Amino acid sequence: MQERAVDAGAGCGLRATSFKPTSGHFPVCPQLAARNSKFTSYNGGVPFRIRPFEKADFDTLWRIDQACFDPQLAYSRPEMAFYIRRPGSFTLVAEADAEILGFIVAETRGKSGHIITIDVVAEARRAGVGSALLRDAEDQLLRAGARAVALETPVNNAAAIRFYKQKGYFVEKTVTGYYSGQLDALVMTKELARPVVG
Ligand SMILES: CC(C)(COP(=O)(O)OP(=O)(O)OC[C@H]1O[C@@H](n2cnc3c(N)ncnc32)[C@H](O)[C@@H]1OP(=O)(O)O)[C@@H](O)C(=O)NCCC(=O)NCCS
Repeated sequence: MQERAVDAGAGCGLRATSFKPTSGHFPVCPQLAARNSKFTSYNGGVPFRIRPFEKADFDTLWRIDQACFDPQLAYSRPEMAFYIRRPGSFTLVAEADAEILGFIVAETRGKSGHIITIDVVAEARRAGVGSALLRDAEDQLLRAGARAVALETPVNNAAAIRFYKQKGYFVEKTVTGYYSGQLDALVMTKELARPVVG
């Protein structure tokens, strides 16, 4: 998660400058919660697809981000637009029955890839959507020349840390006060491809 401030550098990262510490709980908006039943069958196996971001997706992605994160951590519209449009960045969307389930924003920086954020709606979690988004983003980063990928995640985001570890990411370091000086981040990295020897 990129630090959630437009001028702030790198990572599954910077969120708002007015961040106040939370317990690490990421609330779900009432509208999404009310739609839980719709995704029961989805979690039972309705297929979804991964596709590139389209401009018309923007408001939905922004609302998903608002629902995924504490209000003081969620991206503002200008922040999200900045990261989606940033040169070298790309956004992939997971969709089932024309319903957006989640998205990932990533970017290449030379031989390094970077996950800016990954957000899956609460009712579609633990069904492989995040895995598919991350896998496709890693594939795209690899094709763009990245040999490793890095991201930042809040130290209190236990679900994300478990998810990334399950996907082969290792904790490289802790950055104190990464989120507006008030919450530490773990920098996690993964090698995408080993150089061919001989
Ligand atoms: C982190 C996140 C993207 C994972 O998406 P997801 O679609 O639920 O992930 P998957 O279903 O592909 O999970 C793959 C594996 O990751 C691990 N995992 C995912 N969520 C987990 C959780 N809450 N607790 C423990 N392990 C978890 C599990 O090993 C899981 O496999 P399993 O379900 O077979 O046990 C999702 O929880 C999310 O959007 N969270 C809110 C936003 C966020 O924190 N984003 C990360 C910003 S840094």
